Amino acid sequence: MQRRNFLKLSSLGLASFQLPKWTNAVQKPLVVSTWDSGMPVNAEAWKVLEQGGSALDAVEAGARYIEDTIDCCVGLGGYPDRDGIVTLDACIMDDKSNCGAVAGLERIKHPISVARKVMETTPHVLLVGDGAQKFALQNGFPLESGELSESGKKAYQKWLEKSQYKPEINIENKKGNGPFAPAFFEDGTANHDTMGLLALDQQGNLSGAVTTSGMAFKIHGRSGDSPIIGAGLFVDNEIGAATSSGVGEEVIRICGTHTVVELMRQGLSPEMACKKACERIVNRDPKKAATLQVGFLAINKKGETGAYAIQKGFVFSMKSNTENKINPSKFLL
Ligand code: GLY
Repeated sequence: MQRRNFLKLSSLGLASFQLPKWTNAVQKPLVVSTWDSGMPVNAEAWKVLEQGGSALDAVEAGARYIEDTIDCCVGLGGYPDRDGIVTLDACIMDDKSNCGAVAGLERIKHPISVARKVMETTPHVLLVGDGAQKFALQNGFPLESGELSESGKKAYQKWLEKSQYKPEINIENKKGNGPFAPAFFEDGTANHDTMGLLALDQQGNLSGAVTTSGMAFKIHGRSGDSPIIGAGLFVDNEIGAATSSGVGEEVIRICGTHTVVELMRQGLSPEMACKKACERIVNRDPKKAATLQVGFLAINKKGETGAYAIQKGFVFSMKSNTENKINPSKFLL
């Protein structure tokens, strides 16, 4: 509605009958990320967004921040695999469906930036293991020591006592903790894993990034959903974007984030689309689903956001011009 017409209606007291168009205005810029640890991640991304920078630069900046700082489940401070080696997975996707990813990357501090380099300088989408490391070194990323962080060492020593291959992720509810529980429990199990973030910039373009050290004590060579486009991350600039956290195998099986975006294309809200994707996982094997966690987070082109998880405990962080907060996710079981 034109401003002049709205003023005319206002003077007749009719404005309330016809909502002005700007009540449907796109909320932008905006950044959302998985978990409460997403708050400082969003703050980094926001520095880019508030200056009119691209969603792509914003999500890379946020991901780099968490790769540098967290000492548990992302970056070289993360928990190792069962051979005692930290291997990193990451991916990035922009508004033109360009994407890049690395899986099983060792001794490189910023897998997200290597993923972006893959996207921008190669004809490929995904590089893995030694090849990904070689590519990173060729592109000037320094080789780090490979020594475990203090918490990584401690957790690995504890895990070696039983060497039980029984990884559990995001198990706050089983431990009776609230949604803002610390990242790790005393027995070394992890309750936070993947950092996924989605941004909508001032130009109305979407991008996303995911970075993780993956499932703690995994088999060496295992990749989860995080570096798989359509599983851990999917962006369609016409519709929206989604990311996931939790047991990656379950997300891969249903092409989780692609599913969420396609459900939004059919008209579902971000929250409902995330819910339907969770239901697909649960319906496939309800017994198994009761033992694990998966959470989806989505944003659409209007800047509406939503999340859903299988179990209690998933939260997401959100930053916009009007909000800066942690939102608990609804859950199925
Ligand atoms: N979602 C992270 C992983 O499964 O590795």
